[in-house]
Amino acid sequence: MEKVIAVDGPAGAGKSTVSKIVAAKLGYTYIDTGAMYRAVGLKFLRSGQDFDENFLAEITRDIEISLDENAKVFLDGEEVTKEIRTPEVSKLASDVSKYGFVRKKLTELQREMARQGSVIMDGRDIGTQVLPNADVKIFLTASLKERARRRFEELKAKGQAVTLDAVESEIAFRDKQDSEREIAPLAKADDAVLIDSTNMTVDEVVDSILRLVEV
Ligand code: DC
Repeated sequence: MEKVIAVDGPAGAGKSTVSKIVAAKLGYTYIDTGAMYRAVGLKFLRSGQDFDENFLAEITRDIEISLDENAKVFLDGEEVTKEIRTPEVSKLASDVSKYGFVRKKLTELQREMARQGSVIMDGRDIGTQVLPNADVKIFLTASLKERARRRFEELKAKGQAVTLDAVESEIAFRDKQDSEREIAPLAKADDAVLIDSTNMTVDEVVDSILRLVEV
């Protein structure tokens, strides 16, 4: 039977790490919706323009975003998997995600992707807006300090020049902006299971999700 798992939560909670593992174990497709907002942010960044809502609407209208089975991300046909992971693009992704026209376009695309079969989709509004009928809903969180530490280690391993303080401020800013926006803010769905991963290993989080899927 096809199943849909929705995983929401703040930046750095480990959503993509655990979702990828769960997808591999269950043979599901993993869909990273944050990568799609990042692709919009990158397109804007590449334009070199100052922020302008009309221009954002224009580039959103004919943008092409796709994800392949290895979670590679394509923007207008070009692979941008690495380029979307910089702190600058993280902030822009959060900035563009406030706009209803951006959310509408990506939400439609995400629902279309979820129709393809069993999926695990992670983001901010999957359980509340994109897939409200998901079979399993998870709200994955961790303390700000722990999320900043994890993201810092990840960026450092990729050779990016960042400081722990800068990563913590960037995450705190995005948490606030993503939670306070008017349209589809970051929120736990009433029927989502809360997992606080602050003191949990990746395997422990994966196991708790697998248990919820199996019941
Ligand atoms: O998951 P992420 O950190 O890659 O997401 C980047 C930004 O995209 C996040 O700060 C807010 C936005 N986003 C969103 O608004 N809704 C989603 N479902 C996923 C991401």
